[in-house]
Amino acid sequence: MIVSSKTIPFVDLTLQHQPIQADIEQAISTVVQRGDFILGKTLKEFEAEFAQASGVKYGVGVASGTDAIALGLQACGITQGDDVLVPANTFIATVMGVIQAGATPILVDCDPHTALIDLNLAAKAITPKTKAILPVHLYGQMVSPRALLDFAQVHDLIIFEDAAQAHLAQREGYKAGSVGMAAAFSFYPSKNLGAFGNGGMLITSDEDVAQRVRTLRNYGAPKKYYHTEVGKNSRLDTLQAAILQVKLPYLPQWNQLRNQAGQIYDQGLKSGEDKGIITIKNLSQEGHVYHLYVIRINKDCSMSRDQVQQFLAERGIQTGIHYPIPCHLQPAYKSLGYQLGDFPQAEMLCEQILSLPMYPGITSDQIAWVIEQLSLI
Ligand SMILES: Cc1ncc(COP(=O)(O)O)c(C=O)c1O
Repeated sequence: MIVSSKTIPFVDLTLQHQPIQADIEQAISTVVQRGDFILGKTLKEFEAEFAQASGVKYGVGVASGTDAIALGLQACGITQGDDVLVPANTFIATVMGVIQAGATPILVDCDPHTALIDLNLAAKAITPKTKAILPVHLYGQMVSPRALLDFAQVHDLIIFEDAAQAHLAQREGYKAGSVGMAAAFSFYPSKNLGAFGNGGMLITSDEDVAQRVRTLRNYGAPKKYYHTEVGKNSRLDTLQAAILQVKLPYLPQWNQLRNQAGQIYDQGLKSGEDKGIITIKNLSQEGHVYHLYVIRINKDCSMSRDQVQQFLAERGIQTGIHYPIPCHLQPAYKSLGYQLGDFPQAEMLCEQILSLPMYPGITSDQIAWVIEQLSLI
Protein backbone atom coordinates (compact mmCIF):
# COMPACT_ATOMS: atom_id res chain seq x y z
CA MET A 1 0.00 0.00 0.00
CA ILE A 2 1.24 3.46 -0.87
CA VAL A 3 1.19 5.85 2.03
CA SER A 4 0.88 9.41 0.80
CA SER A 5 2.37 12.31 2.71
CA LYS A 6 -0.62 14.39 1.59
CA THR A 7 -4.10 13.97 2.94
CA ILE A 8 -6.97 15.62 1.12
CA PRO A 9 -10.15 15.41 3.16
CA PHE A 10 -13.48 14.97 1.47
CA VAL A 11 -14.80 18.05 3.28
CA ASP A 12 -13.02 20.50 5.59
CA LEU A 13 -15.41 22.68 7.58
CA THR A 14 -12.69 24.22 9.77
CA LEU A 15 -11.56 26.38 6.85
CA GLN A 16 -14.88 28.22 6.80
CA HIS A 17 -15.41 28.31 10.56
CA GLN A 18 -12.03 29.41 11.90
CA PRO A 19 -12.02 32.94 10.40
CA ILE A 20 -15.53 33.68 11.71
CA GLN A 21 -15.41 31.77 14.98
CA ALA A 22 -15.39 34.90 17.15
CA ASP A 23 -18.47 36.25 15.36
CA ILE A 24 -20.27 32.93 15.77
CA GLU A 25 -19.43 32.82 19.48
CA GLN A 26 -20.71 36.38 19.86
CA ALA A 27 -23.95 35.49 18.05
CA ILE A 28 -24.48 32.44 20.28
CA SER A 29 -23.76 34.51 23.38
CA THR A 30 -26.35 37.11 22.32
CA VAL A 31 -29.05 34.43 22.06
CA VAL A 32 -28.01 32.92 25.40
CA GLN A 33 -28.28 36.31 27.06
CA ARG A 34 -31.64 36.99 25.44
CA GLY A 35 -32.91 33.50 26.22
CA ASP A 36 -35.32 33.32 23.28
CA PHE A 37 -34.23 29.85 22.21
CA ILE A 38 -37.50 28.89 20.49
CA LEU A 39 -38.89 31.05 17.65
CA GLY A 40 -36.64 33.90 18.78
CA LYS A 41 -35.67 37.23 17.23
CA THR A 42 -32.64 35.90 15.34
CA LEU A 43 -34.68 33.11 13.76
CA LYS A 44 -37.15 35.64 12.34
CA GLU A 45 -34.29 37.80 11.04
CA PHE A 46 -32.53 34.84 9.44
CA GLU A 47 -35.74 33.58 7.84
CA ALA A 48 -36.22 36.95 6.16
CA GLU A 49 -32.56 37.21 5.11
CA PHE A 50 -32.36 33.72 3.61
CA ALA A 51 -35.65 34.19 1.74
CA GLN A 52 -34.48 37.52 0.34
CA ALA A 53 -31.12 36.07 -0.72
CA SER A 54 -32.99 33.30 -2.55
CA GLY A 55 -35.31 35.73 -4.32
CA VAL A 56 -38.59 34.94 -2.52
CA LYS A 57 -40.72 36.62 0.13
CA TYR A 58 -40.94 34.22 3.06
CA GLY A 59 -38.73 31.75 4.90
CA VAL A 60 -39.93 29.38 7.61
CA GLY A 61 -37.22 27.66 9.63
CA VAL A 62 -37.83 24.01 10.48
CA ALA A 63 -35.90 21.21 12.15
CA SER A 64 -34.48 19.60 8.98
CA GLY A 65 -34.57 19.56 5.21
CA THR A 66 -36.73 16.45 5.37
CA ASP A 67 -39.33 18.29 7.44
CA ALA A 68 -39.16 21.24 5.03
CA ILE A 69 -40.21 18.83 2.25
CA ALA A 70 -42.90 17.03 4.26
CA LEU A 71 -44.48 20.12 5.83
CA GLY A 72 -43.95 22.22 2.71
CA LEU A 73 -45.76 19.73 0.46
CA GLN A 74 -48.65 19.59 2.93
CA ALA A 75 -48.81 23.37 2.97
CA CYS A 76 -48.97 23.38 -0.84
CA GLY A 77 -52.08 21.23 -0.59
CA ILE A 78 -50.47 17.87 -1.34
CA THR A 79 -52.23 15.18 0.62
CA GLN A 80 -53.18 11.52 0.82
CA GLY A 81 -54.20 10.13 -2.57
CA ASP A 82 -51.93 12.52 -4.50
CA ASP A 83 -48.96 11.39 -6.59
CA VAL A 84 -45.74 13.39 -6.69
CA LEU A 85 -43.06 12.96 -9.39
CA VAL A 86 -39.63 12.49 -7.78
CA PRO A 87 -36.24 11.61 -9.29
CA ALA A 88 -35.09 8.05 -8.58
CA ASN A 89 -31.58 9.48 -8.25
CA THR A 90 -31.66 11.51 -5.04
CA PHE A 91 -30.98 11.26 -1.33
CA ILE A 92 -33.68 9.15 0.32
CA ALA A 93 -35.05 12.15 2.25
CA THR A 94 -36.74 13.46 -0.90
CA VAL A 95 -38.85 10.30 -1.16
CA MET A 96 -39.32 10.18 2.60
CA GLY A 97 -40.65 13.75 2.67
CA VAL A 98 -43.32 12.88 0.09
CA ILE A 99 -44.42 9.83 2.08
CA GLN A 100 -44.46 11.82 5.33
CA ALA A 101 -46.75 14.33 3.61
CA GLY A 102 -49.13 11.41 3.01
CA ALA A 103 -48.65 11.33 -0.77
CA THR A 104 -47.20 8.67 -3.08
CA PRO A 105 -43.82 9.21 -4.76
CA ILE A 106 -43.75 8.31 -8.46
CA LEU A 107 -40.11 7.78 -9.30
CA VAL A 108 -38.58 9.00 -12.54
CA ASP A 109 -35.21 8.12 -14.07
CA CYS A 110 -32.51 10.72 -14.68
CA ASP A 111 -30.37 12.12 -17.46
CA PRO A 112 -27.05 10.22 -17.22
CA HIS A 113 -25.00 13.29 -18.19
CA THR A 114 -26.30 15.64 -15.49
CA ALA A 115 -27.78 13.10 -13.03
CA LEU A 116 -30.88 15.35 -12.86
CA ILE A 117 -34.50 14.27 -13.38
CA ASP A 118 -35.37 13.52 -17.02
CA LEU A 119 -38.48 15.56 -17.81
CA ASN A 120 -39.33 13.49 -20.91
CA LEU A 121 -39.58 10.43 -18.71
CA ALA A 122 -41.45 12.45 -16.07
CA ALA A 123 -44.12 13.26 -18.68
CA LYS A 124 -44.60 9.54 -19.31
CA ALA A 125 -44.88 8.78 -15.59
CA ILE A 126 -47.79 11.18 -14.94
CA THR A 127 -50.93 9.53 -13.56
CA PRO A 128 -54.43 11.00 -13.14
CA LYS A 129 -53.51 11.53 -9.46
CA THR A 130 -50.27 13.41 -10.11
CA LYS A 131 -50.42 16.85 -8.47
CA ALA A 132 -46.80 17.95 -8.25
CA ILE A 133 -43.26 17.52 -9.48
CA LEU A 134 -40.43 17.60 -6.94
CA PRO A 135 -37.22 18.33 -8.87
CA VAL A 136 -33.99 17.91 -6.92
CA HIS A 137 -31.20 20.38 -7.72
CA LEU A 138 -28.73 17.58 -7.19
CA TYR A 139 -25.05 18.14 -6.40
CA GLY A 140 -25.65 21.93 -6.55
CA GLN A 141 -26.92 22.20 -10.12
CA MET A 142 -30.47 23.37 -10.79
CA VAL A 143 -32.84 21.45 -13.02
CA SER A 144 -33.55 23.83 -15.95
CA PRO A 145 -36.12 26.35 -14.60
CA ARG A 146 -37.51 27.09 -18.07
CA ALA A 147 -38.01 23.42 -18.83
CA LEU A 148 -39.60 22.90 -15.41
CA LEU A 149 -41.99 25.85 -15.78
CA ASP A 150 -43.06 24.65 -19.27
CA PHE A 151 -43.52 21.13 -17.97
CA ALA A 152 -45.62 22.24 -15.01
CA GLN A 153 -47.77 24.49 -17.17
CA VAL A 154 -48.44 21.85 -19.83
CA HIS A 155 -49.33 19.20 -17.24
CA ASP A 156 -50.95 21.53 -14.70
CA LEU A 157 -48.67 20.53 -11.83
CA ILE A 158 -47.25 22.29 -8.79
CA ILE A 159 -43.45 22.61 -8.70
CA PHE A 160 -41.91 22.02 -5.27
CA GLU A 161 -38.10 22.24 -5.35
CA ASP A 162 -35.74 20.15 -3.26
CA ALA A 163 -32.89 22.65 -3.03
CA ALA A 164 -31.17 20.94 -0.07
CA GLN A 165 -27.90 20.83 -2.04
CA ALA A 166 -28.24 24.09 -3.94
CA HIS A 167 -28.26 27.19 -1.69
CA LEU A 168 -28.10 30.25 -3.98
CA ALA A 169 -27.51 28.14 -7.10
CA GLN A 170 -28.64 29.86 -10.31
CA ARG A 171 -29.68 28.90 -13.81
CA GLU A 172 -31.37 30.80 -16.63
CA GLY A 173 -31.75 33.85 -14.36
CA TYR A 174 -33.56 31.96 -11.59
CA LYS A 175 -32.28 31.24 -8.10
CA ALA A 176 -32.76 27.84 -6.49
CA GLY A 177 -36.01 27.87 -4.57
CA SER A 178 -37.63 30.66 -6.55
CA VAL A 179 -38.95 28.60 -9.48
CA GLY A 180 -41.83 26.70 -7.94
CA MET A 181 -44.62 27.29 -5.46
CA ALA A 182 -42.21 26.52 -2.62
CA ALA A 183 -38.84 24.92 -1.91
CA ALA A 184 -37.01 23.03 0.80
CA PHE A 185 -33.46 23.62 2.04
CA SER A 186 -31.31 21.66 4.46
CA PHE A 187 -28.76 23.18 6.82
CA TYR A 188 -27.11 19.85 7.66
CA PRO A 189 -23.54 20.81 8.73
CA SER A 190 -21.77 19.88 5.48
CA LYS A 191 -24.30 21.59 3.21
CA ASN A 192 -23.18 24.75 1.35
CA LEU A 193 -24.82 26.67 4.20
CA GLY A 194 -24.56 24.43 7.24
CA ALA A 195 -25.64 24.73 10.86
CA PHE A 196 -23.91 23.20 13.90
CA GLY A 197 -26.51 20.44 13.91
CA ASN A 198 -29.72 19.80 12.01
CA GLY A 199 -31.85 22.48 10.42
CA GLY A 200 -33.93 23.30 7.38
CA MET A 201 -36.10 25.94 5.78
CA LEU A 202 -39.17 26.17 3.61
CA ILE A 203 -39.16 29.19 1.33
CA THR A 204 -42.01 30.56 -0.78
CA SER A 205 -43.54 33.77 -2.05
CA ASP A 206 -47.03 32.49 -1.21
CA GLU A 207 -48.17 33.96 2.11
CA ASP A 208 -50.70 31.17 2.77
CA VAL A 209 -48.10 28.44 2.23
CA ALA A 210 -45.67 30.20 4.58
CA GLN A 211 -48.35 30.66 7.24
CA ARG A 212 -49.42 27.01 6.99
CA VAL A 213 -45.83 25.79 7.53
CA ARG A 214 -45.51 28.17 10.52
CA THR A 215 -48.56 26.43 11.95
CA LEU A 216 -47.52 22.88 11.03
CA ARG A 217 -44.01 23.25 12.53
CA ASN A 218 -45.50 24.50 15.81
CA TYR A 219 -47.79 21.61 16.85
CA GLY A 220 -50.40 22.72 14.32
CA ALA A 221 -51.03 25.87 16.35
CA PRO A 222 -51.59 29.20 14.55
CA LYS A 223 -51.65 30.79 18.02
CA LYS A 224 -50.52 29.55 21.42
CA TYR A 225 -52.48 26.55 22.76
CA TYR A 226 -54.96 26.66 19.86
CA HIS A 227 -54.42 23.73 17.47
CA THR A 228 -56.20 23.75 14.13
CA GLU A 229 -54.44 20.71 12.67
CA VAL A 230 -52.14 17.83 13.55
CA GLY A 231 -48.71 19.36 13.21
CA LYS A 232 -45.24 18.58 14.50
CA ASN A 233 -42.63 20.02 16.77
CA SER A 234 -40.21 21.09 14.04
CA ARG A 235 -38.72 24.51 14.57
CA LEU A 236 -35.27 25.71 13.58
CA ASP A 237 -33.51 26.53 16.88
CA THR A 238 -32.74 30.21 17.39
CA LEU A 239 -29.15 29.21 18.23
CA GLN A 240 -28.77 27.46 14.85
CA ALA A 241 -30.35 30.47 13.12
CA ALA A 242 -27.80 32.75 14.85
CA ILE A 243 -24.92 30.64 13.50
CA LEU A 244 -26.47 30.54 10.02
CA GLN A 245 -27.04 34.30 10.10
CA VAL A 246 -23.31 34.87 10.64
CA LYS A 247 -22.45 32.47 7.82
CA LEU A 248 -24.98 33.66 5.21
CA PRO A 249 -23.04 36.76 4.00
CA TYR A 250 -20.08 34.49 3.17
CA LEU A 251 -22.15 32.03 1.16
CA PRO A 252 -21.81 33.73 -2.27
CA GLN A 253 -18.02 33.78 -1.86
CA TRP A 254 -17.93 30.14 -0.67
CA ASN A 255 -20.12 29.09 -3.60
CA GLN A 256 -17.81 30.94 -5.98
CA LEU A 257 -14.81 29.04 -4.58
CA ARG A 258 -16.70 25.77 -5.06
CA ASN A 259 -17.54 26.74 -8.64
CA GLN A 260 -13.90 27.63 -9.37
CA ALA A 261 -12.79 24.29 -7.93
CA GLY A 262 -15.40 22.56 -10.12
CA GLN A 263 -14.04 24.29 -13.20
CA ILE A 264 -10.47 23.25 -12.38
CA TYR A 265 -11.62 19.64 -11.97
CA ASP A 266 -13.61 19.79 -15.25
CA GLN A 267 -10.64 21.15 -17.15
CA GLY A 268 -8.14 18.72 -15.67
CA LEU A 269 -10.32 15.67 -16.13
CA LYS A 270 -11.22 16.33 -19.78
CA SER A 271 -8.62 13.91 -21.07
CA GLY A 272 -9.87 11.21 -18.68
CA GLU A 273 -12.99 10.61 -20.79
CA ASP A 274 -11.06 8.24 -23.13
CA LYS A 275 -10.10 6.16 -20.11
CA GLY A 276 -13.61 5.90 -18.75
CA ILE A 277 -13.41 8.74 -16.22
CA ILE A 278 -16.43 10.89 -17.03
CA THR A 279 -17.44 14.17 -15.38
CA ILE A 280 -21.06 15.02 -14.55
CA LYS A 281 -21.92 17.87 -16.91
CA ASN A 282 -22.29 21.45 -15.73
CA LEU A 283 -25.00 23.14 -17.81
CA SER A 284 -25.31 26.18 -15.56
CA GLN A 285 -21.77 27.65 -15.68
CA GLU A 286 -21.18 29.94 -12.66
CA GLY A 287 -24.62 29.09 -11.30
CA HIS A 288 -23.54 25.58 -10.28
CA VAL A 289 -22.68 25.69 -6.57
CA TYR A 290 -21.03 22.25 -6.46
CA HIS A 291 -22.28 20.89 -3.18
CA LEU A 292 -20.54 17.79 -4.52
CA TYR A 293 -18.13 17.23 -7.39
CA VAL A 294 -19.06 13.91 -8.93
CA ILE A 295 -17.39 11.79 -11.61
CA ARG A 296 -18.34 8.45 -13.14
CA ILE A 297 -16.01 5.51 -13.58
CA ASN A 298 -17.52 3.69 -16.52
CA LYS A 299 -16.92 0.33 -18.18
CA ASP A 300 -14.02 1.68 -20.29
CA CYS A 301 -11.91 2.25 -17.18
CA SER A 302 -9.24 -0.29 -16.28
CA MET A 303 -10.45 -0.22 -12.66
CA SER A 304 -13.90 -0.50 -11.11
CA ARG A 305 -15.34 2.45 -9.17
CA ASP A 306 -14.55 0.73 -5.88
CA GLN A 307 -10.97 0.06 -6.99
CA VAL A 308 -10.56 3.72 -7.98
CA GLN A 309 -11.88 4.77 -4.57
CA GLN A 310 -9.35 2.45 -2.87
CA PHE A 311 -6.54 3.67 -5.17
CA LEU A 312 -7.26 7.28 -4.20
CA ALA A 313 -7.59 6.42 -0.50
CA GLU A 314 -4.10 4.89 -0.58
CA ARG A 315 -2.86 8.23 -1.87
CA GLY A 316 -4.53 10.17 0.95
CA ILE A 317 -7.54 11.30 -1.09
CA GLN A 318 -10.90 10.88 0.64
CA THR A 319 -13.94 10.37 -1.56
CA GLY A 320 -17.64 9.56 -1.16
CA ILE A 321 -20.51 7.93 -3.06
CA HIS A 322 -23.73 9.92 -3.37
CA TYR A 323 -25.57 7.57 -3.34
CA PRO A 324 -24.68 3.87 -3.43
CA ILE A 325 -28.21 2.39 -3.48
CA PRO A 326 -31.00 3.95 -5.56
CA CYS A 327 -34.18 4.93 -3.71
CA HIS A 328 -36.33 2.28 -5.44
CA LEU A 329 -34.06 -0.54 -4.23
CA GLN A 330 -33.95 0.54 -0.58
CA PRO A 331 -35.54 -2.15 1.62
CA ALA A 332 -37.70 0.41 3.44
CA TYR A 333 -39.37 1.44 0.18
CA LYS A 334 -40.16 -2.04 -1.14
CA SER A 335 -43.87 -1.36 -0.80
CA LEU A 336 -43.63 1.22 -3.61
CA GLY A 337 -43.40 -1.83 -5.87
CA TYR A 338 -40.32 -1.01 -7.93
CA GLN A 339 -37.69 -3.53 -9.04
CA LEU A 340 -34.12 -3.72 -10.24
CA GLY A 341 -34.09 -2.56 -13.87
CA ASP A 342 -36.91 -0.02 -13.46
CA PHE A 343 -34.56 3.01 -13.53
CA PRO A 344 -31.47 1.99 -15.52
CA GLN A 345 -29.73 5.38 -15.45
CA ALA A 346 -30.13 5.82 -11.69
CA GLU A 347 -28.90 2.25 -11.19
CA MET A 348 -25.93 2.85 -13.51
CA LEU A 349 -25.02 6.03 -11.61
CA CYS A 350 -25.10 4.27 -8.25
CA GLU A 351 -22.56 1.77 -9.59
CA GLN A 352 -20.30 4.31 -11.30
CA ILE A 353 -20.31 7.57 -9.34
CA LEU A 354 -17.56 8.87 -7.11
CA SER A 355 -17.56 12.22 -5.29
CA LEU A 356 -14.14 13.92 -5.14
CA PRO A 357 -12.96 16.31 -2.40
CA MET A 358 -14.94 19.57 -2.65
CA TYR A 359 -15.21 22.44 -0.19
CA PRO A 360 -14.53 26.18 -0.19
CA GLY A 361 -10.83 26.55 0.44
CA ILE A 362 -9.62 23.42 -1.35
CA THR A 363 -6.49 24.61 -3.15
CA SER A 364 -5.65 24.29 -6.82
CA ASP A 365 -2.59 22.23 -5.77
CA GLN A 366 -4.82 19.79 -3.92
CA ILE A 367 -7.12 19.49 -6.93
CA ALA A 368 -4.09 19.06 -9.22
CA TRP A 369 -2.92 16.20 -6.97
CA VAL A 370 -6.31 14.47 -7.27
CA ILE A 371 -6.29 14.93 -11.06
CA GLU A 372 -2.73 13.66 -11.29
CA GLN A 373 -3.54 10.51 -9.34
CA LEU A 374 -6.59 9.86 -11.54
CA SER A 375 -4.41 10.28 -14.62
CA LEU A 376 -2.28 7.34 -13.44
CA ILE A 377 -5.25 4.99 -13.78
C1 LIG B 1 -31.30 16.22 -1.85
C2 LIG B 1 -31.60 16.22 -0.38
N1 LIG B 1 -32.88 16.29 0.01
C3 LIG B 1 -33.22 16.33 1.31
C4 LIG B 1 -32.25 16.27 2.29
C5 LIG B 1 -32.70 16.22 3.72
O1 LIG B 1 -32.16 17.20 4.52
P1 LIG B 1 -31.94 16.92 6.09
O2 LIG B 1 -30.79 15.98 6.22
O3 LIG B 1 -31.66 18.27 6.64
O4 LIG B 1 -33.21 16.33 6.61
C6 LIG B 1 -30.89 16.22 1.92
C7 LIG B 1 -29.78 16.26 2.90
O5 LIG B 1 -29.49 15.52 3.70
C8 LIG B 1 -30.57 16.17 0.55
O6 LIG B 1 -29.30 16.09 0.15
